[in-house]
Amino acid sequence: MTEKFLKEKKFRSLVTGDDFTVPELVDLLNLASDIYREPNNFSNLCNGKVLGSLFFEPSTRTRLSFEAAMVRLGGSYINIPEPKGSSVMKGESLADTIRTVAAYADIIAMRHPLEGSAEVARQNSSVPFINAGDGGHQHPTQTLTDLLTIKETKHTLENLTIGLCGDLKFGRTVHSLVKTISKFPNNKFIFISPVELEIPEYIKMDLKKRNIEFVEVRNLEDIMDKLDILYMTRVQRERFFNEADYMRLKDTYILDNKKLENAKEDLIILHPLPRVNEIAVEVDKDPRAKYFEQVRFGMIVRMALILRLLEVR
Ligand code: CP
Repeated sequence: MTEKFLKEKKFRSLVTGDDFTVPELVDLLNLASDIYREPNNFSNLCNGKVLGSLFFEPSTRTRLSFEAAMVRLGGSYINIPEPKGSSVMKGESLADTIRTVAAYADIIAMRHPLEGSAEVARQNSSVPFINAGDGGHQHPTQTLTDLLTIKETKHTLENLTIGLCGDLKFGRTVHSLVKTISKFPNNKFIFISPVELEIPEYIKMDLKKRNIEFVEVRNLEDIMDKLDILYMTRVQRERFFNEADYMRLKDTYILDNKKLENAKEDLIILHPLPRVNEIAVEVDKDPRAKYFEQVRFGMIVRMALILRLLEVR
């Protein structure tokens, strides 16, 4: 693989929500809906293909759903069970690691703790590359998961009032979702967080520039009756600089049945998971709780993404 090849590469990758246009997203979600309804029609399309599954940060859903997605398409995967078991521990650069894995795999999914690492990986990959989360920056395949869940449960991606609650500062799933779903018409946002965990300024600036309506509030109950979607998030302990701040903020919002008393009948409650304390287990029985359905949609939409990036028709 030469420098010239890397510069001239023709294949697609997914690093941020901006890598797909709205029509491309709609096409991808429609493919995912087809897979959801008739999975057997897709079970051999990636025969002989290999996914490189590189996770340098803990993951249950993203990692297993990527690996399961490739297996369900008829392909297989390779991974490094523990970052400690890779040559990164000997000082190998991310660029060299990616070049190596690209020699073995047809497509790579990577999670890494550093913001910007996904872009470095994309630039050094000779096969399609997927960002499976880079630090507090972006998590675009969680956004695809969220969009498919909304499409399948609300039957629209437009005219929605979306409340995002919890750690809006460090929660990369929030950053990716707002960026992408704000491209669909007439969606509005209510950001519910403590002052220390407010949504980053660059996201607010972007929404203002595009005349997209949003408000910031501190109290979840006050706005519950306005929401079509409530997106709960965990306070991201691993991104805090000190434990005392985490302990003070971690239980700011705990969704329980009482707080849902004024909610719309057709509200949907989403959470990228893992959950810690922010949704009481009693809420799981509420038919509006969709977060475990969301988990399955995550695998389905990653099947669709693999097919599109590998240009399998
Ligand atoms: N939603 C999500 O990214 O979960 P994992 O950290 O378990 O992959």
